[in-house]
Amino acid sequence: MTSALDAIHEFLPCRTPARWIENALANQDLMLIDHAHCEKKAASTALSLMYRYVDNTDLLNKMSRLAREELRHFEQVLAIMKKRGVAYDHLTPARYASGLRQEVRAEDPGRLVDVLIVGAIIEARSCERFAALAPHLDEKLADFYNSLLKSEARHYQDYLALAEKAAGESINDRLATFLEIERALIEEPDTEFRFHSGPVPG
Ligand SMILES: [Fe+2]
Ligand SMILES: [Fe+2]
Repeated sequence: MTSALDAIHEFLPCRTPARWIENALANQDLMLIDHAHCEKKAASTALSLMYRYVDNTDLLNKMSRLAREELRHFEQVLAIMKKRGVAYDHLTPARYASGLRQEVRAEDPGRLVDVLIVGAIIEARSCERFAALAPHLDEKLADFYNSLLKSEARHYQDYLALAEKAAGESINDRLATFLEIERALIEEPDTEFRFHSGPVPG
């Protein structure tokens, strides 16, 4: 596992800022609610790819498994929320996913390559954040987050492999573009705390 996490640290443009960890620890209920939304959204993104690219068998298989795993994570977060008396509710979306999606090309095949790259980045960042948070959390939540980071690391690899296959050429330039945007979204001060937000100044 250490090597998968090392690969993710190498892939991402920066580490989660210490201030964001403080934000998360001070807003654990909100973190769980947003985390539940993220798992549900991850499943829904995978399903929409399955509707759009019906001739891509590798994508269909990987996204079907991924969607099932994300829905399972969703159920696990809901169970933890219930135990802790945290009510699920709507939330305004973070700037993170929309900030990355703005750069996605409108036409295929570029569109598919970009959506898959965004998927890889989101999975990698989720994995990095679970690992960064775990040492600061209570034992139950730490165990849960440590268990999640393994599947998110595999999801990152699946998305990246699908992006390379869809492109049929090096995706390094597109990756560099998206990773530069990601760095700003992670490092620049944000207005609201979310699982993928930037640091919210105190
Ligand atoms: Fe997940
Ligand atoms: Fe995932």
